[in-house]
Amino acid sequence: MTFPKDFAWGSAAASYQIEGAAYADGKGLSVWDMFCKKPGAVWNNQNGDVVCDHYHRYAEDVRLMQDMALKAYRLSISWPRVLPEGVGTSNAAGLAFYDRLVDALLAAGIEPWVTLFHWDFPLALYYRGGWLNRDSADWFAEYTALVVDKLSDRVRHWFTLNEPQVFIGAGHLEGRHAPGDRLRMSEVLRAGHHTLLAHGRAVQAIRAHSKTPAKIGYAPVAQPKIPLTNSRADIDAARRAFLAVNEPHTWSNTWWMDPVFLGEYPADGWRYFGADVPHLRQGDLETINQPLDFFGCNIYEGKYIRAGEGGAPELVARPVGAPLTSFDWWVTPEAMYWAPKFFYERYKTPIIITENGLSCRDWLSLDGKVHDPQRIDFTRRHLLELERAIDEGIPIEGYFHWSFIDNFEWAHGVKHRFGLIFCDYENGAARIPKDSARWYADVIRTNGASLKV
Ligand code: FCB
Repeated sequence: MTFPKDFAWGSAAASYQIEGAAYADGKGLSVWDMFCKKPGAVWNNQNGDVVCDHYHRYAEDVRLMQDMALKAYRLSISWPRVLPEGVGTSNAAGLAFYDRLVDALLAAGIEPWVTLFHWDFPLALYYRGGWLNRDSADWFAEYTALVVDKLSDRVRHWFTLNEPQVFIGAGHLEGRHAPGDRLRMSEVLRAGHHTLLAHGRAVQAIRAHSKTPAKIGYAPVAQPKIPLTNSRADIDAARRAFLAVNEPHTWSNTWWMDPVFLGEYPADGWRYFGADVPHLRQGDLETINQPLDFFGCNIYEGKYIRAGEGGAPELVARPVGAPLTSFDWWVTPEAMYWAPKFFYERYKTPIIITENGLSCRDWLSLDGKVHDPQRIDFTRRHLLELERAIDEGIPIEGYFHWSFIDNFEWAHGVKHRFGLIFCDYENGAARIPKDSARWYADVIRTNGASLKV
């Protein structure tokens, strides 16, 4: 067996990371617009004001996606672009941009998969308490309804939130992402609970407003755990570590997934966080636990685990010389097999890989091309592991490479290049498809058969 016939071969990007036009056509500000102005918050004080200027160059970008044979493109909507104050009066010019983008994609035969929230939270709502305010769930539902009213005659695939672990953890606990807060754990978990409520309310809003049958998912980041060997003991230990919530941070799987897919917070995490757990109101878990069509997961890097004393999970350090990406993330293709396997065991929901990729120190060579053999090798290894999971019967329905184009990598500015297409920022953000773009086109055209070559 191999990749299913209608596999969604795609690539992904997010509004703030590529659009630019931060102050154009009535867009409101987001917490990222604010955060980038804090001296030292972002590498070399860079920002997303212009970056790839996708807002103005989307038509060219869609043509490049078409050359890459993409079947699907995962984009996100900038909430303050369409609702400058976060709620209330909408911005027709902002909505019109997404209208044009969706039309261009469909005309090119590329299915748009829309993420409603990929971190550019409206600044006006941050001043009203942001995610700490329980009303944030209502605000998000209002925004969702507006977007769905506008686009659902053509958009059939939706994601609610991208990586709540990151925008809550890095943004509200560690302070290294917008809005740059360092809150107490009780506040962090309260804000997190509100994001889960927002997710549930958004799913309800999509189902209520969609003009076509909608398929809806949620896109947390996976924290993959890989058994060191195939022994039963190591596999059990890796699974235990994968499901555990027992450390003072937000980087777990189940805290963010069990409420959504199982309707309850994981018992170990509830015990572990003690007095810091969020206050639950009657009906909260039902709101959060809406039926979903797929489980979207972003997979970048896994950790190896073996069974220690009494089977307890033990983290195994990577061997000396093991491959690392430019981000200093370990290259662990087996994460692509084990994370979907463990997720499917627990949540029994079809899986979409909503992000996977790596940053390389790519540059433009003297021959005018961008050669990125490591991206090709990395992606091939990951896709082969994904195929192994598919072969074992795990329903994996799509893969979105991060990213379609080099972009603004949050607190790292444009230092990191994740794109299949090179963005020549120095020269008017000219686009140059990397070797990997041509390679990926081949993978897509052969439905994965070329991976074996
Ligand atoms: C993920 C984010 C995405 C991008 C990649 C590299 O955590 O969802 O926006 O920054 O990492």
